[in-house]
Amino acid sequence: MDFNNLPRHIAIIMDGNGRWAKRRGLPRTSGHSAGAENFRTIATYCKDIGIQYLTVYAFSTENWRRPPEEVSTIMGLLDKYLHEAIERMERDRVKMKFFGDTSVLSPKLRALIERTAEISSQYEGCQVNICVNYGGRDEIIRAAKRLAETGVAFSEENFAGEMYSAGIPDPDMIIRPGGEMRISNFLLWQAAYSELYFTDTLWPDFSKDELNKAIFSFQHRDRRFGGI
Ligand code: FPP
Repeated sequence: MDFNNLPRHIAIIMDGNGRWAKRRGLPRTSGHSAGAENFRTIATYCKDIGIQYLTVYAFSTENWRRPPEEVSTIMGLLDKYLHEAIERMERDRVKMKFFGDTSVLSPKLRALIERTAEISSQYEGCQVNICVNYGGRDEIIRAAKRLAETGVAFSEENFAGEMYSAGIPDPDMIIRPGGEMRISNFLLWQAAYSELYFTDTLWPDFSKDELNKAIFSFQHRDRRFGGI
């Protein structure tokens, strides 16, 4: 892998937490804890090697269909992770943003999300975007509504400017651990020319080495963006 030719923006669907736990005879919620821990490891690694943007799918607009205990575990992990992120902020120096409709989250979690985004806005090195109550279709519809309301022309540029990702480059690669080969409503607009990488490794086992392998694969793709 060439550390001088890294993707600028990596996006990850953190899939396979439930199966990881089941294989160990543990409750699914333990899988999410292990997944959250691995997110921290991978985010730190991305920052250390010089990835500029990392976007992860933490909770989709469809994940509300899961049993209430599982939803509250994931929300609890986010809460815990954000408190710890604030404590470590000066050392980690990562800018954190949140993509998704946070208006339906608990007021406590919403306040924490806003605080994390605000405190971390001073950092420039690596930007980590956490998608919470995020859906790609929902994002596109919201953008269309805003353009219609403001009477702005329906152009690609204006749509992009209304996305949660406004101002940041589209993901160069989207990684999905966990064996499924689908996009699951993740970054539908932004994924137009992303290189897709799938692996059977479950997210809690997706190590730095696995990420290096994914980046190596990316570096050997021929990206033509519709040209020849
Ligand atoms: C998919 O695995 C994972 C999720 C829906 C939740 C992801 C959440 C975390 C990693 C924890 C919180 C996040 C942060 C950023 C601290 P799955 O449950 O669908 O696994 P399965 O397909 O094996 O059942």
